[in-house]
Order: sequence, then C-alpha cells, then structure tokens
Amino acid sequence: MTLTFPKLATTSEQPLVVCRGVTKQFGEGEAAVMALRGIDLDVYDGQMTLLVGESGCGKTTLISVIAGLLDATNGELSVLGRDLRKLRGAALVHFRGGHIGFVFQQYNLLPALTAAENAAVPLIIAGVKRHEAVARASKVLEMVGLSDKLKSLPSQLSGGQQQRVAIARALVHEPKLLVCDEPTAALDAASGKMVMEMLKRVAVQQGRAVIVVTQDKRVFDFGDRIVHMSDGRIERVETAEERKKARQTEGIVATA
Ligand SMILES: Nc1ncnc2c1ncn2[C@@H]1O[C@H](COP(=O)(O)OP(=O)(O)OP(=O)(O)O)[C@@H](O)[C@H]1O
Ligand SMILES: [Mg+2]
Repeated sequence: MTLTFPKLATTSEQPLVVCRGVTKQFGEGEAAVMALRGIDLDVYDGQMTLLVGESGCGKTTLISVIAGLLDATNGELSVLGRDLRKLRGAALVHFRGGHIGFVFQQYNLLPALTAAENAAVPLIIAGVKRHEAVARASKVLEMVGLSDKLKSLPSQLSGGQQQRVAIARALVHEPKLLVCDEPTAALDAASGKMVMEMLKRVAVQQGRAVIVVTQDKRVFDFGDRIVHMSDGRIERVETAEERKKARQTEGIVATA
C-alpha cells in the first residue's frame, strides 16, 4: 500500500505529523525490544498534543522517531509534509535544525553561559553572528517572562526559570514542531503550571504544533488532545472536550 503525503502542511486540516503503522524495534534476536508496535497518529497544527502512559510504554521512543532522532523500523511517517524516512544524513540534520525544537526533562544548559547566551546557542551553531543571536534570544526570553534574567547564569535561576530558558532555546529558531519530553517532571506544581501556560501561549500557534510527553496529571488539562499509550500502542485519544465531559461526570458521581 502506498500513502500519499501532503506536500506542504499549511492549513489546519492537514496534520503536521502523520504516523501510519510506525514500529520501532531495539536490538535483535532474544534481546529485541518492540518499543512501538504500530502507531497511527495525527498531530494537528495550532494544538498541544499530550502523550501519556506508564513508564516504558514508548513515549520517548515515539517523539524521538517523530523528531528524526531515531529511525523507525517500519511504517510511514510524514513530518511537516516531508517523508521523514527518506531523509538521511546531512539532509535530516538540516531538516531537524530548521523545523524541530526539543525540550527535555533535564534542561542541559551550559553553566558558564548566561540565559541569553544559552538560548542563543542554536542560532550561533547555525552561523548567526553572536551579537544578533543573543539579541534574538533575548526577545524570546522576554516572551517566556525572563526579561530580567537575561544575564543570569543557570546556577542563579530556579528550576522553572531554567526550564523556560531551555524552552526559549528550543524556540529561538522558530520551529514548526516543538517536542518536549516531561518538561515539568523536575518542577513543583506552580512552576510546572507556569511552564505549560507559557508553552501554550508562545508555542501553540497557527502553523505550529507542540507535543508534550508527560506523566504529570496536574498538567493534563493543558492538552488539546491527550494520546494515551500502553505497551508500544495508542490505546485511545481523548480531546479536551471529552476530558472536560468525563471530569464533569466524575464530579456528578462524586457528589451524588
Ligand atoms: N536504546 C534502547 N535500547 C534498547 N531498548 C530501549 C532503548 N530505548 C528504549 N528502550 C526500551 O523501549 C521501551 C520504551 O522505552 P521509552 O523510553 O520510549 O519509554 P517511556 O514511555 O518514555 O518511559 P518513561 O516514562 O520511563 O520515560 C522500554 O521497554 C525501553 O526499555
Ligand atoms: Mg521517556
């Protein structure tokens, strides 16, 4: 069977990410682990998609495959209208560098660089002059509410502030797809909420999508869609409306 992928995903009807039958096997023979067992998933622009499920169910593997950090073993994968499985080597690195941003649980900031310099790193790597890169990064730091911390070192920032610098760094080249792996896991409830609010405000726009892996139930309500995974498969996809209704029903049952 051949699938035709959209050439360019520019309207909200065309998903920014299309996975069809995506599998991922680690290792061979007796040591083989089937981390993804046939994933069908659409990720829409202008939305925040949450990926949830128990430890080891394949969440990190799935976003790594979608972001082009890992090769899928089988299946079809279109990201921003490109057949990702056909991109190799330098072309893949270039595509990732241009269109995809990453945020991880650990912020991985460089300790000797200021917040503005840290957020500027992807631009400097891409060849933008240092002065201009830091100026552009400073604007993004303002968007994430850190205009008064531009010159602070990571050690002078709280966990939530460091994570916001990491998000600014991921957004500085204006990627169409932002992928976050448990961005609130190391944060207290208030900082986690602030980070999610900021992500929603800054990163979720027309023509852009955010995928957030999380096990943090406190932030589930931020998702436009919640994709529940189990053992390498998608169990169900819940929309924000469905979640709201289910919670109302739970509320009625609880108060009855
Ligand atoms: N590089 C690897 N080599 C072998 N097995 C791996 C590798 N990476 C992941 N796995 C296995 O693949 C499965 C899925 O792992 P993955 O990291 O995607 O889970 P996860 O849902 O992100 O879990 P967690 O919530 O703990 O981060 C697990 O069984 C894991 O042990
Ligand atoms: Mg993980």
